[in-house]
Amino acid sequence: NLDREMHRPTFHFTPPANWMNDPNGMVYYAGEYHLFYQYHPDSTVWGPMHWGHAVSDDMLNWQHLPVALYPDELGTIFSGSVVVDWNNTSGLGSKDNPPMVALFTYHDVKGEQAGTLDFQTQGLAYSLDKGRTWTKYNQNPVMKNPGLKDYRDPKVSWYAPQQKWIMALAQGDHIGFHSSKNLIDWQEESTFGEKIGAHGGVWECPDLLEMTIASTGETKHVLLVSLVPGAPNGGSGTQYFVGDFDGSKFIVDPDFSERLAQQEALWLDYGTDNYAGVTFSDVPDADGRTLFMGWMSNWLYARDVPTKKWRGSMTLPRNLVLQETALGLQLFSKPVSELDNISQRVAEHNNVEVNSTTDLSTLLGQIEEAHRLKVTVKRQEASTLTFNYKNQSEQLSIRLDASAGTVTIDRAKSGATKFEAHFANPQVGVISPSLDAYSFDIIYDKASIELFVNNGELSMTALAFPSTPYSEITFSADGQALIEQISMDKIISQQVK
Ligand code: FRU
Repeated sequence: NLDREMHRPTFHFTPPANWMNDPNGMVYYAGEYHLFYQYHPDSTVWGPMHWGHAVSDDMLNWQHLPVALYPDELGTIFSGSVVVDWNNTSGLGSKDNPPMVALFTYHDVKGEQAGTLDFQTQGLAYSLDKGRTWTKYNQNPVMKNPGLKDYRDPKVSWYAPQQKWIMALAQGDHIGFHSSKNLIDWQEESTFGEKIGAHGGVWECPDLLEMTIASTGETKHVLLVSLVPGAPNGGSGTQYFVGDFDGSKFIVDPDFSERLAQQEALWLDYGTDNYAGVTFSDVPDADGRTLFMGWMSNWLYARDVPTKKWRGSMTLPRNLVLQETALGLQLFSKPVSELDNISQRVAEHNNVEVNSTTDLSTLLGQIEEAHRLKVTVKRQEASTLTFNYKNQSEQLSIRLDASAGTVTIDRAKSGATKFEAHFANPQVGVISPSLDAYSFDIIYDKASIELFVNNGELSMTALAFPSTPYSEITFSADGQALIEQISMDKIISQQVK
């Protein structure tokens, strides 16, 4: 069993011990969700990367498995993806037992230190036993480096119209799209992004998603691109582009380009702590969801956060939905419905009038260290609405400013903040201004807040390290407002197997 350090989340994924960053190789196969992750098994700070591994049947209860991929003479193992090769295009398995195929980046530290540029290449490994053991391909790397210092994080998907595999690869200030018939021989089709979007840092961890707009049934492609530094609230973050992919090129929608003339980028999550997230491969058609998880940290301070035996957790699994809004197509994030299975309603009220400050704790009873708070507020006279999560001496606040169309999370007094200079800075997200009502879905797990406003129009993820869990929540409005609905769920701690 895991040690129970005070800031270790109760239902978010954390490694058994030591350092973790990006989720890798997320795939659903034979009734199991697989999560691999950037792992340094010997230390609580980043170092020679391995792929840690866990499986789950609901993305919430995880079973730890042995390390899946170890460094070898070609390098350490950076981020990448796993697909099920159903038609055995690689020839590495059979149609009866399709191979699970991992494409990952080899990072050759010696080459890097020697000042070469070609130290990142792509390797392949496969498993014929549901991911329990992995064999590296005997002619790795399958992709050599053309002379690009940053050449990593292959995310592979099947492009059915042309019966071929497509790989999105981070190539410094752009994404490369590569294609293959067999997952082994790759050719570059096109590049995207040199002149569009946010470029405050290097592009990493792309993911090309095929998505259907719920209201019209139309199919679009969305490209996720992580960026470090250059996120709207500092450090690392994930932007996205909406467009079409024709098997070779990704073309951004003209409407979307126009929006990018008004703002630098659209962000998947405006909080500071959702990075390098990608989606699960091979989610069954009958399910049809776009399932996403990110690393719940930020390269600004990931190595400094005050945990002792382990460092790093994943965000909740989320369902990404492409939705039409007044401003155009936008990517909404919603907690997966599986969360309901580990939630227990402890309080529920309707029509609560709010004047200045209302102590929600008197309404909701004991505030659990892992909970979900859902609130729908009719703004009436008020223009700012504020939640304060408190213990005796610390507080984390979430403030919606309806006239400005912003939500600010302020963790300046949230607990331990001094381990890194930026951690105490307020973080600001963007939401539709001046609506009559706003809904908030706040998921708290000891050391993190995941906030979803208006059913995922805005999501913000932020770590916090209070000295004791917040045990009181207040809500205030700067004028008359009405809480139409409020509920509190206790989330049952997941005992990791
Ligand atoms: C993103 C990243 C990836 C890289 C990995 C190394 O956080 O920098 O680009 O593959 O982490 O651990």
